[in-house]
Amino acid sequence: MSKSNDKTLSFVDPDDIGYNDTKNDHFSAILDARLSRRSLLRGGAASIASAFVGSSALSACGGSSDKTAATPTEKLLGFAPVAKSLLDSVIVPAGYTATAIYALGDPLTASTAAFKNDGTDTDFENRAGDHHDGMEWFGLSADGKASLTSVDRGLLGVNHEATTNEKQPSFFIHANGGTASLPRPAAEVDKETAIHGVSFVEVRKTGSKWEYVKDSSFNRRFTCLTDMELSGPVRGNALAITKYAKTGQKTRGTLNNCGTGKTPWNSFVTGEENWAGYFTRNATDDTARTGEKSIAALKRYGSSQGGASRHGWETGGTDDKYARWNISKLGSSTDGSDDYRNEMNGMGYIVEMDPYDKTKAAKKRTALGRFAHESAAFSKAVAGKPLAVYMGDDSRNEYIYKFVSSTNWDAADASSTNPLAMGDKYLDSGKLYTAQFNADGTGKWVELAMSNAQIAAYTAYKFADQADICVNSRLAADAVGATKMDRPEWCSVNPANGEIYYALTNNSNRNINPTGSSQLAPDSANPRAYTDMKGTTAQNGNPNGHILRMKEGADGSTALTFTWDVYLFAAEASAEAGKINLSSLTNDQDMSSPDGLAFSPATGICWIQTDDGAYTDATNCMMLAGLPGQVGDGEKVTLNYTKTDGSNLAVTTYVGKKPSADTLKRFLVGPVGCEITGLAETPDGKAMFVNIQHPGETTAAANIGDPTKYTSQWPANTGYGLGKRPRSATIVITKNDGGRIGS
Ligand code: FEO
Ligand code: CA
Ligand code: CA
Ligand code: CA
Repeated sequence: MSKSNDKTLSFVDPDDIGYNDTKNDHFSAILDARLSRRSLLRGGAASIASAFVGSSALSACGGSSDKTAATPTEKLLGFAPVAKSLLDSVIVPAGYTATAIYALGDPLTASTAAFKNDGTDTDFENRAGDHHDGMEWFGLSADGKASLTSVDRGLLGVNHEATTNEKQPSFFIHANGGTASLPRPAAEVDKETAIHGVSFVEVRKTGSKWEYVKDSSFNRRFTCLTDMELSGPVRGNALAITKYAKTGQKTRGTLNNCGTGKTPWNSFVTGEENWAGYFTRNATDDTARTGEKSIAALKRYGSSQGGASRHGWETGGTDDKYARWNISKLGSSTDGSDDYRNEMNGMGYIVEMDPYDKTKAAKKRTALGRFAHESAAFSKAVAGKPLAVYMGDDSRNEYIYKFVSSTNWDAADASSTNPLAMGDKYLDSGKLYTAQFNADGTGKWVELAMSNAQIAAYTAYKFADQADICVNSRLAADAVGATKMDRPEWCSVNPANGEIYYALTNNSNRNINPTGSSQLAPDSANPRAYTDMKGTTAQNGNPNGHILRMKEGADGSTALTFTWDVYLFAAEASAEAGKINLSSLTNDQDMSSPDGLAFSPATGICWIQTDDGAYTDATNCMMLAGLPGQVGDGEKVTLNYTKTDGSNLAVTTYVGKKPSADTLKRFLVGPVGCEITGLAETPDGKAMFVNIQHPGETTAAANIGDPTKYTSQWPANTGYGLGKRPRSATIVITKNDGGRIGS
């Protein structure tokens, strides 16, 4: 085991990183912004006329098994919009109630002690993890069987992405804030590894009250040390061989789980996002790997020799569970079976889990590529046609992907009682594509396969086979000239018309006058580069993000071409119209950094959630409800930028139909320092589950002993649980009149 005590912990923001400095084509010259600074007038930031989380019992709801049909009087988006807020509360519209039901540390077995929330708790393998993120609903019948129709009993599959605070490791779960220097104490590392991963937790409605079920036999944790199968092309490949998995068929754990998805056969899929930062390499590891293409692969995924890991887990001790976080080439074997040089190739996938059967190991679906995965959105399943899975890679300047199954959809599989066998059938064999966006509003899917001459001839990295392409999808997409995007976060398919929506959260590397290899001029699909002021701080690039949408060509899931436009440009309402606030958002609609994005199967509402740092001087993160139209319903707009040399460049883009007060409204604002993420609903649309991630993460580490200095005390300030430390948590939202959420 190598020494890494000479390193410090990694202090980068793991949610805002980029390693793509390839020279892919993009179609704009360099431009100069003459964008006027927006007025600082915002108005009404703290005006509240809404309901607060933690309010008392819900009003009586309708019958618990009501069908989903709308009442004749229902009007979607009939609620009064919520104002922007800086309060330490979850705010929802009048007539709605939001209640925390499942927070960091909550026990998942009958014998697990109550969570004291003072930093002394242990046994996190049997508790809710931290940083609740993507989430899906899986119904349970009264007799405890999988149910597609149950509306009052089910399981939530919940991602536990990370832990607060990366810059001062996990201080809320350690009594004194944790050890910020290396080596890290084993007991701290053990807590931290256990609070990452996924949980499945039963939730149940009794009367009108929703609660999680502490002693449910369905409750289950996956951590970043849980044994998992590799499935698909990478299984058994040389790139997957490690000391722990000498035949390359398994790995340990899932990590930095961000977005989720639900398969057409009712299983849970979770995306592994910023996993690379958890590993470290020794300062001379490139020398140890002299002549190997692995150096280029590691660098492309953000692993540089000598780079510090996020939490220093590799320093917890000599046990193998710590050693595996150092991925240096240390052994003498030629295949990597005596060290962890290949260990990072076991992370970065879409992972499938059976929500109902605790005896089934999770399966990493390697055919869907390896990158900083967010959600996985399935095309509308059509009998006799292949399924498509849409995905994004969330780092600056990364790509959009789709996977198309080799197997045609059989509708009978929707009710399979062995969902992982269905995953084997549909997700282990197929074609992986990346997207190129053209300036004329069209685009094409380019297959990532050895049969592609650009991949076969790529000199920066020589691919061996399809498994190599799956492991190194970023390099394959580089080879074919995929379009670099403004950080693709979640995607979702509009059930009304099958169009695909991508949240592009922001990109500080868009620049009118780009310098260096990582900055890019704006292009048609990522057309804005401007300055947004946060107080006296200039935020440059595309700090507010946008939501792109795509319509497949006539072949549907297997189409090789598409058309696209931008559903919404996020912006402050007071930002310059026609340049920055291109969607003409009002004070009831404005937002920054869309991240979570999900269409409700029940109502068809497009729910948009933010993970923002740009507009947080005016408002905490939020969730909005939209009723979008379709690709092409808006207008072609040309943005004229003048670059510093005085030349003009016109960037043409396609702005979707501007929302009206009836088609886009802010629905929720969260407590201080949080991200709003995760969205699951009962099939009747009458209970919605949303996650409040990392409230209070802006707390200074020095203030760990003084609750009055925590920037948030949510959800304790609603009466939830013990202690005052802020906790990530799931809330349930219901409508006081028993109606559907968003009506
Ligand atoms: Fe975990 Fe890209 O957000
Ligand atoms: Ca601003
Ligand atoms: Ca996200
Ligand atoms: Ca994010």
